[in-house]
Amino acid sequence: MRIVLVGPPGAGKGTQAAFLAKNLSIPHISTGDLFRANISKQTELGKLAKSYMDAGNLVPDEVTIGMAKDRMAQPDAENGFLLDGFPRNVSQAEALDVALKADDVKLDAVLDLEVPEDEVVKRIAGRRICRKDSSHVFHVTYSQPKQEGVCDVCGGQLYQREDDSEDTVRKRLEVYHTQTEPIIDYYRTQGLVVTISALGKVDEVTKRAMDALKGDK
Ligand code: AP5
Ligand code: MG
Repeated sequence: MRIVLVGPPGAGKGTQAAFLAKNLSIPHISTGDLFRANISKQTELGKLAKSYMDAGNLVPDEVTIGMAKDRMAQPDAENGFLLDGFPRNVSQAEALDVALKADDVKLDAVLDLEVPEDEVVKRIAGRRICRKDSSHVFHVTYSQPKQEGVCDVCGGQLYQREDDSEDTVRKRLEVYHTQTEPIIDYYRTQGLVVTISALGKVDEVTKRAMDALKGDK
């Protein structure tokens, strides 16, 4: 399956993607995680991305689209993928359509995670992620690691993302409403959007998502 996951910052895209990708045997491709990996390796791309991410803005399409396409061209994504955080504006969605058409494949669904803003703020405020791999996500109250400050998956140190400060979160939410939400209408015209509530426990949301995806296909 080829799936796009969309939802506001802190909706639980990364959290759900880990389970959905495993259940569906497809790779989880997060442009945010790809940028963070470049930042920790201090690559030129990482240095460029960091300045935009820390301000809560989108990284320019010229670098983002190429990076996402390179990742989707890896052998593990040949038969499907779960995109998390890409596309994030209509021009990225159009570029994705062109790339998929060139490969003669199509998206199966766009899974839209709906969460009220006050919940998103609580989720982001308590989020801790792993220094070794930013796809390992925890929460100080809702999803506690077994040992405080230590990643359950790989033993890495947990920390709070630089862009999770109050001001940057406000900016990220604004960017989501103005630039990312329009892709939901873009995909609605293609009949691809499946909207679910992302409220409730993590495993309840995963079940809701799996049911919605099965119902859709
Ligand atoms: P990105 O890393 O994609 O961030 P985001 O979209 O803002 O989303 P988040 O990662 O903040 O939230 P999430 O929905 O994954 O929630 P999570 O699962 O962690 O992007 C960061 C930046 O990179 C962007 O601002 C931009 O600058 C740049 N960028 C990335 N892609 C780009 C693109 N395509 N174009 C241009 N720029 C791009 O969950 C949040 C917390 O809630 C966690 O602590 C989790 O444990 C907890 N939680 C999850 N589910 C539940 C639940 N059901 N109940 C209780 N708690 C829960
Ligand atoms: Mg995420």
